[in-house]
Amino acid sequence: MRLKTILIILAALPFVLIALFFLYSYLLSPPGSGQDLSRQKGVPFPALMAHRGVSGLAPEETRPAYLLARELGADYLEADIQRTKDGVLIALHDDDLTRTTNIEEVFPDRAKDGVETFTFAELMKLDAGSWFNETHPQWARPSFVDTKILTLAELVDIADGGYHKPGLYLETKSPERFPGIEKEIIDLLAKRGWVGEASEPGASEDASLEEAPMDAPDRVNVRNMPGRLIVQSFSVESLEIFKELAPEVPRVFLFGQGTVEESGSFEAVLEQAQTVNANAGPSGYMAWPWYTSKIHARGMIVHYYTINQSWQMWLINQFGADGIFTDRIDIALDYFGRMEEPDIEEYFKKIGY
Ligand code: G3P
Ligand code: CA
Repeated sequence: MRLKTILIILAALPFVLIALFFLYSYLLSPPGSGQDLSRQKGVPFPALMAHRGVSGLAPEETRPAYLLARELGADYLEADIQRTKDGVLIALHDDDLTRTTNIEEVFPDRAKDGVETFTFAELMKLDAGSWFNETHPQWARPSFVDTKILTLAELVDIADGGYHKPGLYLETKSPERFPGIEKEIIDLLAKRGWVGEASEPGASEDASLEEAPMDAPDRVNVRNMPGRLIVQSFSVESLEIFKELAPEVPRVFLFGQGTVEESGSFEAVLEQAQTVNANAGPSGYMAWPWYTSKIHARGMIVHYYTINQSWQMWLINQFGADGIFTDRIDIALDYFGRMEEPDIEEYFKKIGY
């Protein structure tokens, strides 16, 4: 064989292999392969979750992050739920308050203490917004300063209070630290018409926000779908409690590579999830078509976390995912064709930030 022919074959080989890989992926787990399963479970497809709100553009798990997510048209507002010493359910990701508040200034001797050791009144002394301005100067806004930690009740107000009616996707974070939290979450949501027979949301806190947003023609109405509330956890025990309390509420078992290693295999993780009839919420690093197809084969839907770049959204969509958690719901809505690149400044103006 002539040298030129060998060089041509060598140059073409990577492209051929990539094409074969995508063909294999398409045959195994084509885009949209979980759409019917999502529909059966009353969950939108593809489901786009605003992870801790629009946490790429505003302080995570706070009012501006969730208001922006709702106004842009996220399907779900995702939040991590914990409990104060005096029993108030709040949205907060970390076990302690050092990363996302100024606790070192306000309670220097207790800075590393768990959130469950603070009363709600104590938490209200904290500024949960300024850290974001320091960490992300390109997205900093003076109006974020002194943003407060949000309660679950306030998050429900936000979900119910606009033109779009997103769902809620709530995680029990380190639930072993909060015995009984599952019942408290379900009770609060049931009182607000989110569990059991759906009821219409109450009057909006601000009627002007009920007006149609500028560039989102399709109204989000997940609030009125059976999957309006999804509960998620890295703890099977917590999901088991949810299953007993409210079997009709979809459950998602979260896991990463560490869970697979501990359990021994990917199949073993899925079996764990199936003991509580849960769906799957794996890390985005595991979004391969051979995993997605195994999940669908068990009748489970799969939502991957945390996907922030449009090329990742493209790839994961090609591999058959049913939804994503993202810190940049604006990018996801644009990528999935729900809106043109939104004017974020206008949205912040509308929500008063
Ligand atoms: O809930 C999905 C994803 O949020 C899980 O990871 O650590 O961001 O809560 P984490
Ligand atoms: Ca979470």
